[in-house]
Amino acid sequence: MYEFKDEFLTGIEQIDNEHRKLFEIAEELYTLKNEQFIPDKYDNIREILIQLKNYTITHFEHEEAYMESIGYKRMFTQKIQHDALREIVNEWDLEALDENQDEAIDEMLRTITDWLVNHILNQDKLIGK
Ligand SMILES: [Fe+2]
Ligand SMILES: [Fe+2]
Repeated sequence: MYEFKDEFLTGIEQIDNEHRKLFEIAEELYTLKNEQFIPDKYDNIREILIQLKNYTITHFEHEEAYMESIGYKRMFTQKIQHDALREIVNEWDLEALDENQDEAIDEMLRTITDWLVNHILNQDKLIGK
């Protein structure tokens, strides 16, 4: 469902590897969420969501450090966009997740993956140009 595609490649190895990893985490979450009979599934879902959130924040730090190191001229736009997603993931309430929260989990997964695809294609790809 959430596979990393060649069209996402920026040509910067570390950034591409981190983007790939983000899609792997999203896919893992999607797969787990759709498994039917796993006891205590929501503990694992919570853990993966925390991982997805933390890895996103770490990735932004790395990407911003890289842009700074090359004196990237569109860094300001990047930071504004990163801030917007940082704000969204920081507002996730991960304590309240249980079987009644499937829609909330879907919504988080959809928000972050839509956001990432859009941002990678419209912003991150320009870094390598
Ligand atoms: Fe990125
Ligand atoms: Fe970015």
